[in-house]
Amino acid sequence: MTTTLPNSTAAPALIGLYADIQPELARVEERLQRELRSPHPVVDEVVRHGFRLGGKRLRPALVLLAAKATGKLTEDHILLATIVEMIHTATLVHDDVLDEADLRRHEQTVNARWGNERSVLLGDFLFSHAFYLASTLPTTAACQVIGRSTNRVCDGELRQTLYGGNLKLTEQEYYEIIDAKTAELCACCCDLGSRYAGADKATVLRFENFGRHLGVAFQIIDDLLDLLGEEQETGKSVGADLAKRKLTLPLIHCRDSLVNGPKLVLLDMLANGDRAQRGEIRRHLEATGSIAFARRAAEARVESACAELAPLPESAAKETLITMAKFCVARTF
Ligand code: IPE
Ligand code: IPE
Ligand code: MG
Ligand code: MG
Repeated sequence: MTTTLPNSTAAPALIGLYADIQPELARVEERLQRELRSPHPVVDEVVRHGFRLGGKRLRPALVLLAAKATGKLTEDHILLATIVEMIHTATLVHDDVLDEADLRRHEQTVNARWGNERSVLLGDFLFSHAFYLASTLPTTAACQVIGRSTNRVCDGELRQTLYGGNLKLTEQEYYEIIDAKTAELCACCCDLGSRYAGADKATVLRFENFGRHLGVAFQIIDDLLDLLGEEQETGKSVGADLAKRKLTLPLIHCRDSLVNGPKLVLLDMLANGDRAQRGEIRRHLEATGSIAFARRAAEARVESACAELAPLPESAAKETLITMAKFCVARTF
């Protein structure tokens, strides 16, 4: 049974970051392995596939660190951290169907290997198991928070599909989508970690806000990596946003910075949805300073995240949360 972080190119950079919660993270890993079993070998293989390699385990880490920064980390937190990783993985399995992606966590995606039908069902299997586990906690707060957050994640993903190919997407619409599809779950993790450690309402809200800002920054960088990153490093398909004609912050900024001919050239490339034009699009992004713009926007959200925690008592866990927020912007995977 695996009791350490999964092997991946991601792990070395995260080992230091997760040092203080290593034993608890190992227990989350164990719990994931234990929960995700099926007596049917074919189902078992599909279920285990998604958890094998390379996940950063960012969301469980947020639960555990928010707990440690507030009070006592308990058995409930191990379960909560297991649940949020299960939900996150379910959203990835479904997201890879929507994005027609073939690489995830340095492995073939479930859809590339077994097809869309099994991916849809695996995602449902993970969601339903996560909700079942949440219902075994002594209070219903987790069910409420997790249910509401997962609903918003789906709402964000749904809205994004409706906006696909909309080259007029505004910055505000972009932020609304990423707040729902990504930041919501990060906020949920920090809320649960602190809430189940006995924090008062105002403190829980601070942690929730911290997670939300961190999540927005995380997604802005993810969107940059889709345009600039390499698959060997990210471990997942790149150029997927271009292929799906999804406008992201750097592209929105670039579009709004250009006029006349160059603008038409960019719009034409975005309308084509051809990821082979990544290099050409990158040249436009550089010329308009759009990469630096998006990076600054992410950095500003990290500052807001850290400001939320500033009035709270100092602790090693709080310091790690701040380092984690900075990692979200510095990361290359
Ligand atoms: C990917 O999340 C989906 C986004 C919200 C961008 P992660 O980058 O945290 O994925 P894993 O868990 O490390 O594979
Ligand atoms: C995040 O968006 C997806 C979810 C919140 C499930 P992306 O589509 O950008 O995520 P990746 O890049 O595929 O991991
Ligand atoms: Mg995707
Ligand atoms: Mg992405």
